[in-house]
Amino acid sequence: MNLPQSDALVFFGATGDLVFKKIFPALYAMERRGHLKVPVIGVARSDWTIKQFQARARASVNKLDGFDAGAFARFQKRLRYIRGDYAAAATHAALRKELGKAAHPLHFLAIPPSVFEGVIEGLGQSGCARGARVVIEKPFGRDLPSARKLSATLHKVFDESCVFRIDHYLGKESVQNILVFRFANTFLEPFWNRHYVESVQITMAEKFGVEGRGGFYEESGAIRDVIQNHLLQVVGFLAMEPPTTTNHQSIRAEQVKVFRKMRPLRRADIVRGQFRGYRREDGVAPDSKVETFAAARLHIDSPRWKGVPFFIRSGKRLPTTMTEVLVMLKPPAIGKLCAGQANYVRFRLSPDVTIAIGARVKRPGEELIGDPTELQVVNHPHGVEMGAYERLLGDAMVGDGTLFAGQAGVEAAWAVVQPILGSVTPVHLYKPGTWGPPEAEKLTTGICDCDSPFWLFPQGKERKSKLSDAQTIRKSSRRVGRFQKRL
Ligand code: BG6
Repeated sequence: MNLPQSDALVFFGATGDLVFKKIFPALYAMERRGHLKVPVIGVARSDWTIKQFQARARASVNKLDGFDAGAFARFQKRLRYIRGDYAAAATHAALRKELGKAAHPLHFLAIPPSVFEGVIEGLGQSGCARGARVVIEKPFGRDLPSARKLSATLHKVFDESCVFRIDHYLGKESVQNILVFRFANTFLEPFWNRHYVESVQITMAEKFGVEGRGGFYEESGAIRDVIQNHLLQVVGFLAMEPPTTTNHQSIRAEQVKVFRKMRPLRRADIVRGQFRGYRREDGVAPDSKVETFAAARLHIDSPRWKGVPFFIRSGKRLPTTMTEVLVMLKPPAIGKLCAGQANYVRFRLSPDVTIAIGARVKRPGEELIGDPTELQVVNHPHGVEMGAYERLLGDAMVGDGTLFAGQAGVEAAWAVVQPILGSVTPVHLYKPGTWGPPEAEKLTTGICDCDSPFWLFPQGKERKSKLSDAQTIRKSSRRVGRFQKRL
């Protein structure tokens, strides 16, 4: 179905953190490239003037590298602001008026899931949904039943082809590179399976806390905020079978198959943590049990992956900000030739972008022994990607759904986390600046007979030592004595 180009952009939740951190920079970047040609209407509950809204936009972008005052001045002229309760008829009537002749607005819902429904109904009743499409920010629902209900509500007003479920990880160059690196290279395929892979570890660490998003976070927590969506998308790309074509239906279909092969998480597969001080954040209950850290052990019961644990963890107030995937290979049979850690493939997804292969080369000198080294295939120290939101907003405006999550995938991902949502497991407190509660380390116990050192890389201690990546690996390897003894 060919959708017409959007002729207005509407952001519900316009004074919020997401718009500040991601949407304003994306729109300003579009303006700089000459890609933004439509009015931008912010809707929010705060009693702001248009001047305040413009000042917020400026604060969001003026620290960016090479701030372009001319482009910002053009962007600022596009901004409009509507104050109102999200579900109120008056808000939607004001929006309809502001839209004027726009016939194909794009509505972006950057609001807590609890208010989605009222907004969707309001858009329908006011006529703002006519000819329009809607972008829903994750999490899509709070669990499997509410995700289904949300889709049903959306479908009362919007055709599925006009619903864009945004997971900005799908728009990241580094995440898409997992797919390309896997399927555009022949050499990977022979070892990309349970015969050679010992474990897969994914870490999404953030040094910062909830930064004024306490209210949002209380409704969400790490599992709903990033695990059910961003990190499962990454697992999907790592674990899927080759798609039959490169069109998005084929890719999505293979990803959904992975989610469906994942065992629903059991209580023993998850460790939840909360950083000390979280309960004093604005909007957070003094006895909150919401997790700001979660580590999980996933199993994918497919012929390719059966028996290979996928460890994923994410947390706020950890020692560093970075997202990384490590695919650890089993040790080779001739152990005597090897020093250091097993081979691996490493994808650093952010902030820098690296794809690297851990290999061994002969140690100079008399000994016939291999020392670990790292071959870096891609290394962009600061990342070179077009921002994920810029790409995805541009795609949504032209009606291209390739990089958006589909309903089947979203529901299958909810089914994986459904059994461990809420407070069914304890939440362990951890000190800010550490790698979460020590209980998380125990997730690996008894899982791999290969004694894979959990979260080998990066480790807080090594990170602080300012070692290069290769040095860090060598140092980690030396510490993992029992691993070498076995070889
Ligand atoms: C968002 C989450 O979806 O992703 C945030 O709501 C998180 O809590 C953010 O900080 C991380 O995105 P990125 O692109 O900075 O890794």
